[in-house]
Amino acid sequence: MSNPTQRAKKLFVQTFGTTADALYLAPGRINLIGEHTDYNDGFVLPAAINFHTVIAVKRREDALYRVISDTNPGDIKEWLFGIEGEMDPKDGVINYLKGFTATMAASGLPAKGLDISVVSNVPLNAGLSSSAALEIAFGTAINDCSQLKLSPLAVAQIALSGENKYVGRASGIMDQMISALAQQDHALLIDCEDLDSELVPIPDNLSLIIVNSNVQRESIKLEYNLRRDECASVAKHFGLDSLRHLTLNQLDASKDALSDTYYRRAKHVLTENRRTQHSAHALAAGNIPKLSKLMAQSHASMRDDFDITVPEIDSLVNIISTVVGKRGGVRMTGSGFGGCVVALVDHALTDAVVAAIEQQYTQQTGLEATVYLCSACDGATRIDERLY
Ligand code: GLA
Repeated sequence: MSNPTQRAKKLFVQTFGTTADALYLAPGRINLIGEHTDYNDGFVLPAAINFHTVIAVKRREDALYRVISDTNPGDIKEWLFGIEGEMDPKDGVINYLKGFTATMAASGLPAKGLDISVVSNVPLNAGLSSSAALEIAFGTAINDCSQLKLSPLAVAQIALSGENKYVGRASGIMDQMISALAQQDHALLIDCEDLDSELVPIPDNLSLIIVNSNVQRESIKLEYNLRRDECASVAKHFGLDSLRHLTLNQLDASKDALSDTYYRRAKHVLTENRRTQHSAHALAAGNIPKLSKLMAQSHASMRDDFDITVPEIDSLVNIISTVVGKRGGVRMTGSGFGGCVVALVDHALTDAVVAAIEQQYTQQTGLEATVYLCSACDGATRIDERLY
């Protein structure tokens, strides 16, 4: 994998004819458990992974932003802070950055302009949060260059607000928070109601394996927004702002008053919140059989109640869980309809898992999977160039 830091420096010099002042990075993420719970004010348990977006910057004295991305080299985009203009759907990368500055300007936060190059090795369209990595790397750069002294959580909140309001993605806070707050070798249990979070150590004997199903994800935005609306409708039915404080007993008592779909959507969220908190305890205690069971239940709930898995993803989970048994956990991760599977398994089983995927996945589905052997890494930071 080529080094995004060196590439960002090179792209900066090639584009702006001078060297950058500073470099910042932010990681992509994997969610261990707690799916579609963040926008329901529930619990999530993500970790940052060693795929990064790197931003090289040079401060400007005016309010101009000039950005070059290696996804579109040769095409410099410009805007003035607070005057972001229309979001062109073709400008994927740039819109996330414009959304960030627009949100800052709307909240009365000041910032000077920047010249920027952006390079990333976070796989695109895999559900590993390349967009949050981009927003948080950018937010960390602005925060530092304009000496705003915002907390990582505040940077995450601005990023989410920009994504929701200006880019039009109705996502929850998980991706931005983990990219901003992660710590090496830890997952982060986030309570999305009050945004409190707690580090959970990942035991040394576990490998973090991510497998991209390479299923073409279609109508994902539509399906995601539909799930959000369905959950909001159930909360409204009970006179609540979110599903967070609905109990399973209350839900079951009203089963006949709800459609089967609404009932199953809410059941997933309520049971997933419980599984996520229990998983954090199991992980911290090194209780892998318990974690294995909870991750299997989570997958079944996403498949049977939330209806967000696809046959190829179910095949991958079956292939891996057959090898791993109780010595690790596996489930689909992310918004669904393809994307990736996450497995936390005893190191000794890593090769057997990879071999099983190679032998069986293509045969069962006609697709090739991509396996990433990852580690849980730190959140966004300024890069100390002496290390590069
Ligand atoms: C996407 C969103 C997150 C979260 C997950 C599902 O990754 O960006 O906020 O809702 O889907 O858990």
